[in-house]
Amino acid sequence: MVELHDASTIAAVIVEPMAGSTGVLPPPVGYLKRLRELCDKHGILLIFDEVITAFGRLGHATASERFGVTPDIMTFAKGITSGTVPMGGCVVRKHVYDAFQTGPDHVIDLFHGYTYSGHPLAAAAALATLDLYRDEGLFERSRKLEPYIAQAAMSLKGHALLQDIRTIGFVAAFDLAPVEGLPGKRGFDAMRVAFHEENMMVRVSGDTIAVSPPLIAEEKHLDEIFEKFGRVLDKVS
Ligand SMILES: Cc1ncc(COP(=O)(O)O)c(C=O)c1O
Repeated sequence: MVELHDASTIAAVIVEPMAGSTGVLPPPVGYLKRLRELCDKHGILLIFDEVITAFGRLGHATASERFGVTPDIMTFAKGITSGTVPMGGCVVRKHVYDAFQTGPDHVIDLFHGYTYSGHPLAAAAALATLDLYRDEGLFERSRKLEPYIAQAAMSLKGHALLQDIRTIGFVAAFDLAPVEGLPGKRGFDAMRVAFHEENMMVRVSGDTIAVSPPLIAEEKHLDEIFEKFGRVLDKVS
């Protein structure tokens, strides 16, 4: 892309360090490090969208920490309040901060004009959530259970409807064989059956279903989740 467009026309590269929203696609080994090197070489900012990956989903505070690659800007949301109250934000490194702080001292730092910026309710929920993550060791727990969730998800291997199973951290994804001529229908049906018949919320992305248990889930809950998902697969076959 740099060769095609010239680095001077590229301000930043934004990636999800693990592509969660497109179906749980772990990065190829060394991919993020190489991206960091290329961005450094050409003076391009690297942005990690950590809306899904931060706060324990990959067994660490951030995917950046897990993969040992530090972006210039990081976005976050969901896990910061464990979804209890809407909140999102971004963290920047000092050189980005300094670039914005060229005005007088009395202006607001990194000003964003949102109606609900820094809302006290969301801030309280975030602080309480961070306390729980620390006190209950939930990032470590997610890291410890990573092999268990991988094994539990892989127990569905061989089901005729499954084209691929991927897991990383505390998340698993299943690619379902599409209904011919109706892409997305099988995934949508699976989500509907999971929700209405198995009391289970899953995320659908085309014909891919992502299962992202709460970080407090224990082994027995993971067993239950994948048992239920096995029944969902049977029902939408
Ligand atoms: C990876 C990712 N980035 C960004 C967003 C959007 O975040 P927000 O609604 O906080 O802007 C989502 C929403 O699902 C997401 O999954």
